[in-house]
Amino acid sequence: MPQWVEGKIAENIHWTSNLFTLKIDAEVDEFTAGQFTSVALDIGGERIARPYSFLNPPDQRPLEFFFYTAIDGKLSNALVQLKVGDSVWIKKQATGFFVLNEIPPCKDIWMLGTGTGIAPYLSILNTPHIWERFEKIVLIHAVRTQADLRYQELITHLKSKFQDRFFFQAFVSRENIEGTFHGRIPATLKEKSLEKELGLDLTIENSHIMLCGNPDMVNDSVEILKSRGFSKHRRRKPGHITVENYW
Ligand SMILES: Cc1cc2nc3c(=O)[nH]c(=O)nc-3n(C[C@H](O)[C@H](O)[C@H](O)COP(=O)(O)OP(=O)(O)OC[C@H]3O[C@@H](n4cnc5c(N)ncnc54)[C@H](O)[C@@H]3O)c2cc1C
Ligand SMILES: NC(=O)c1ccc[n+]([C@@H]2O[C@H](COP(=O)([O-])OP(=O)(O)OC[C@H]3O[C@@H](n4cnc5c(N)ncnc54)[C@H](OP(=O)(O)O)[C@@H]3O)[C@@H](O)[C@H]2O)c1
Repeated sequence: MPQWVEGKIAENIHWTSNLFTLKIDAEVDEFTAGQFTSVALDIGGERIARPYSFLNPPDQRPLEFFFYTAIDGKLSNALVQLKVGDSVWIKKQATGFFVLNEIPPCKDIWMLGTGTGIAPYLSILNTPHIWERFEKIVLIHAVRTQADLRYQELITHLKSKFQDRFFFQAFVSRENIEGTFHGRIPATLKEKSLEKELGLDLTIENSHIMLCGNPDMVNDSVEILKSRGFSKHRRRKPGHITVENYW
């Protein structure tokens, strides 16, 4: 049986009409950056729970989660309405294998995400572990509109701190925004235009790729990467691709 703890909303930031962040005070067990827990509310006498990735690094409080309000989504449309001091249920124990410990030795790490799928990467990027382990660290955030590009201050801070070891590239698919890629991640993996823009090659020898968020982006990217010789990583058969599908 899952063990639930009662959390209290410390902040609810509405970024756009369908993106928000909850900061939550709750006594959860230790977790590893990249993992997720369950967040729940009792709605109509039933506990409605869904998995959510921690955005905060393990040593930072309050807990932080980045949400999308799914159309007709039962839980996300209730969470968005919470006010400071309101209660929310959180599963005490985190879970998940989308963590650096599961990644085999390599030089460079590529972290590709759509929408709220940037959350586990922000948690990982705010730990010392990643900077000790990899030479080059790439973060790609793909969204529909410029307004969906959140956490830019945090990313700018990482860029100024880690300079030429840290690469960030935004994709905005439904607007033409200077400095961003217009289109989708998989096409640029096929054409190698992303690598050209960054000045860094994705190679079987040096790179590991993490993919998170929209399952169509994840699947399409995996297919293209496979055609380039990369393979999915398994504990028993090490490879180059690790994925987290959000739905
Ligand atoms: C491991 C894991 C981690 C997750 N972490 C996050 C997270 O950090 N933030 C987050 O917002 N969601 C996250 N999700 C998705 C989340 O669990 C819920 O599915 C989502 O909040 C919708 O729940 P709901 O009850 O509102 O909608 P439901 O009635 O369950 O509707 C689900 C539908 O909403 C859409 N959808 C679901 N999640 C998203 C999303 N994140 N962005 C865009 N569209 C979506 C899909 O079309 C899906 O079929 C994660 C899922 C998994 C499996
Ligand atoms: N955000 C909104 O304003 C909005 C409005 C109406 C409905 N919705 C619904 O909400 C859900 C999520 O919306 P979201 O905007 O957060 O996330 P999303 O639909 O996952 O879009 C985020 C980014 O992922 C890209 N993407 C989608 N499919 C892809 C694929 N197969 N390969 C590569 N990239 C892909 C999108 O590009 P594209 O733009 O090219 O798809 C976009 O750049 C969707 O199910 C959608 O139907 C959202």
